[in-house]
Amino acid sequence: MKKINHIISANQFTKKDLREIFKITDRMKTGRYRKPLKNKILATLFYEPSTRTRLSFESAMLKLGGQVLTTENAKESSSAFKGESLKDSIKIISSYVDAIVIRHPDNKSMDVAAKASKVPIINAGNGTDEHPTQAILDFYTISKRLNKFNNIHIALVGDLKNGRTVHSLINLMGKYNTHFYFISPAKLKLSVNYKNFLDSENINYLEEKLENIINKIDVLYMTRIQKERFESLSEYKKINRSYLLSPKIVKRMKKDSIILHPLPRIQELPEEIDDDYRSYYFKQAENGLYARMALLYRILRS
Ligand code: NCD
Repeated sequence: MKKINHIISANQFTKKDLREIFKITDRMKTGRYRKPLKNKILATLFYEPSTRTRLSFESAMLKLGGQVLTTENAKESSSAFKGESLKDSIKIISSYVDAIVIRHPDNKSMDVAAKASKVPIINAGNGTDEHPTQAILDFYTISKRLNKFNNIHIALVGDLKNGRTVHSLINLMGKYNTHFYFISPAKLKLSVNYKNFLDSENINYLEEKLENIINKIDVLYMTRIQKERFESLSEYKKINRSYLLSPKIVKRMKKDSIILHPLPRIQELPEEIDDDYRSYYFKQAENGLYARMALLYRILRS
């Protein structure tokens, strides 16, 4: 049986894969492509809210000449509302289309989907676990801007327990010689699994205060406290203002460093930071389109 090219975890990409994906991403950015995915259909199945991920995947598919079927609120508008299992939904949908992009609140959802599907499954976020295509666009943005893959000092700030973009970025950059700084409220610390992974790769990490390392880092990766993962609103409210970036803090950053955020932002990244030349999150989001074009091209070209 032919192996299906699912994208489930950032772990699955080798350095060689990334070089190839980034090269195609560069090409997509120049606009020099025809319609290589003509006659292909992509389904986007989102059981959780999304702006950038769904629309950039859909735009990517259309730009490459393919077509898109979408359920933007699959929880209410698909048969899931009537009680259909994810397994059944995927079994059926995979006989209509050539690939399926899914976002789902359950960490185990991608394994279920991949088992049930006849076509590639692309993980657009599975609960608190992973968001591999975001990591690809994040690392593409970082390596292009800094012009290197190794020796990068990156601070990951905010909800490291529930933030899936952080988890995938660690899985991806943990394969390179990266120096990680983890900055989070005590209740939202990174799980030990990721630390074990970094230990096994011999990669340095420190749990630090932002003010102690702000002048040393190349990348400041801010994240939102994931309100929807809290059991009660009062628990969320106790820590939702833990890390608020300010121009005063940003001022201490290195000249050639960058600020990233997967977005959406809440109060942790005030709009006044947008004018700083190191703010790179809108470019980062734009790169999402080109990176997803590259991924779709790689999976679906015949
Ligand atoms: C992220 C997500 O959904 O995990 N958003 C995104 O895809 N850019 C980050 C978040 O929701 O905080």
